[in-house]
Amino acid sequence: MSNEQQVRIYNPSEEMVKNAAVSGMDGYRALCKEAEDDYEGFWGRRAKELLDWKEPFTQVLDESNAPFFKWFADGKLNVSYNCLDRNVNNGLGDKVALIFEADNGDVTKVTYKDLLARVSKFANALRGMGVKKGDRVVIYLPMSIEGVVAMQACARVGATHSIVFGGFSAQALRDRIEDAGAVALITSDGQHRGGKALPLKPIADEALSLGGCDTIKNVVVVKRTGGDCNIVAGRDVWFHDACEGQSEVCEPEWVEAEHPLFILYTSGSTGKPKGVQHSSGGYLLQAVLSMKYSFDIKLDDIFWCTADIGWVTGHTFISYGPLACGATEIVFEGVPTYPDAGRFWKMIQDHKVTIFYTAPTAIRSLIKAADNNPAVHPTKYDLSSLRLLGSVGEPINPAAWQWYYDNVGGGRCPIVDTFWQTETGAHVITPMPGATPMVPGSCTLPFPGIQAAVVDETGTEVPWGQGGILVIKRPWPSMIRTIWGDPERFKKSYYPEDFKGKLYLAGDGAIRDVETGYFTITGRIDDVLNVSGHRMGTMEIESALVAHEKVAEAAVVGRPDDVTGEAIVAFVVLKGPRPTGDEAAAVIKELQNWVGHEIGPIAKPKDIRFGENLPKTRSGKIMRRLLRQLAKGEDVTQDTSTLENPHILEQLKG
Ligand code: PRX
Repeated sequence: MSNEQQVRIYNPSEEMVKNAAVSGMDGYRALCKEAEDDYEGFWGRRAKELLDWKEPFTQVLDESNAPFFKWFADGKLNVSYNCLDRNVNNGLGDKVALIFEADNGDVTKVTYKDLLARVSKFANALRGMGVKKGDRVVIYLPMSIEGVVAMQACARVGATHSIVFGGFSAQALRDRIEDAGAVALITSDGQHRGGKALPLKPIADEALSLGGCDTIKNVVVVKRTGGDCNIVAGRDVWFHDACEGQSEVCEPEWVEAEHPLFILYTSGSTGKPKGVQHSSGGYLLQAVLSMKYSFDIKLDDIFWCTADIGWVTGHTFISYGPLACGATEIVFEGVPTYPDAGRFWKMIQDHKVTIFYTAPTAIRSLIKAADNNPAVHPTKYDLSSLRLLGSVGEPINPAAWQWYYDNVGGGRCPIVDTFWQTETGAHVITPMPGATPMVPGSCTLPFPGIQAAVVDETGTEVPWGQGGILVIKRPWPSMIRTIWGDPERFKKSYYPEDFKGKLYLAGDGAIRDVETGYFTITGRIDDVLNVSGHRMGTMEIESALVAHEKVAEAAVVGRPDDVTGEAIVAFVVLKGPRPTGDEAAAVIKELQNWVGHEIGPIAKPKDIRFGENLPKTRSGKIMRRLLRQLAKGEDVTQDTSTLENPHILEQLKG
């Protein structure tokens, strides 16, 4: 996007401009102006129009205890009511809400009426177990109808759910259960992925046996894979048994708008994941608004977000946003490469998907697969139903953008490159498909109402064309409310003193184009890596490594990777002598498996190198910048005069 580079600009089609919710740049600018002139009015009007309230709110934004902002605080609503009952009441009862496609290709369709009945039954079951408003419920489930039902049922009874991604380990699950103080765990016997049945309940059992989970009174188990499953009498119950005989009617628990709908753990700069706490009213408002503005959702769309419900994208764009809009959506159990790497394209063809939302890492791996096997190239499928594409989770490189645009979108479909975070709850910088001219690699302009800026270390805005720190200047309805149980960490992490506690610090670097003001995200500025669109803290991986009996010290950095965006590289000092050859290979395997067991397979370092020490300054600080150069295989150009032990650089070259 710099001046020297030739950039191609893609304007939205006339048809898109004509029909989209945000029509043309004039339409976009009018919304931004409305928000600028009357910030509270802008959000308040939409909250009234787009959500059903049991008791209306009288105040939009309460900033009296900043940065602990409150939105619509005296209003009462229920999120599940907004996602289900109101659609049924509006004549959408027989409309398909979910199209579930299993790993083996079996398809199940669930209407709004049916989904409401399923949610109500399970909500009644939860109430029967004593689960009540404010209780925390941990959900450790694969992609499934029951996963969505469980989340909605928690919302219905006012319980705060916390989903733990099915790929996380027993230790990671235990840590989250303990931190949340959960009263119930909802899991399954196993999950199907890529033609294999993988056990889940044994991992849940292991987590509960590790200690610190005494708060858990009930474990609900969805039967998915069948076969032997350990059921602990008095604690565990099958999901279908719990729902059996329950009423299909369940009065929702009307909660305050600020009531925590969910906690979702995400990685930060320390070893301990942060429990990001979200609200009910403000969160749902922006989930709906993102569906409307960024995805231009219409009643006849078939929407497919490929994320897992274990991540925020799955929360906002599977469990809540599409349902609150009365949309039809796909829920997919499997993986993009099974039975072959044409699976996504075949599903778009079979279900006539109109809006498709996935991650750059998936696109890059499918480009590779299509290059190797022309039979799974997207152009071999009928993708003419598509009208809009989305990207999320990491920067999309222009080459991948172009391939996605040409081969999946057939040169017809706008791509919304949506920048947001677990903490923002919904899109914050993204093109509007019927307005914003798109530039590959740029997430373009802020969502209407979001006041994003790029600043220097003092919080002063830098000129366009100059890189800096991405911040958001005013609170927004779907923002993180606090870190569960740690309000001080919330303040320190997101409203730091450097910015006088006035600016939300996203944790990313950004640069704005000199001419258009478009934002390009330049990557994290903290110790967080983005591997295949998954957020991983380097400290978390380091803590896992040093917990191994052989490891004395470890430092973890990222290195650019063609497919996964970033790859994890670990520099390790063992307690014993530095291994080489076969011995080194064996210890590398052992440590990779160890990290997989401690955190989950997604955290396994791709590359592990051993040194007798780590490069440190004389004051003992690890020189991470230097490690990053070594990880990339670059020659060390940086000044090493402060390095106490220069000889170890040779050992760590890899
Ligand atoms: O670094 C940014 C990157 O993903 C981070 C947020 O990760 P997470 O909380 O797991 O949420 C991911 C899904 C919303 C951000 O700080 N990121 C996300 N979307 C983009 C992105 N980087 C560039 N472009 C994007 N569109």
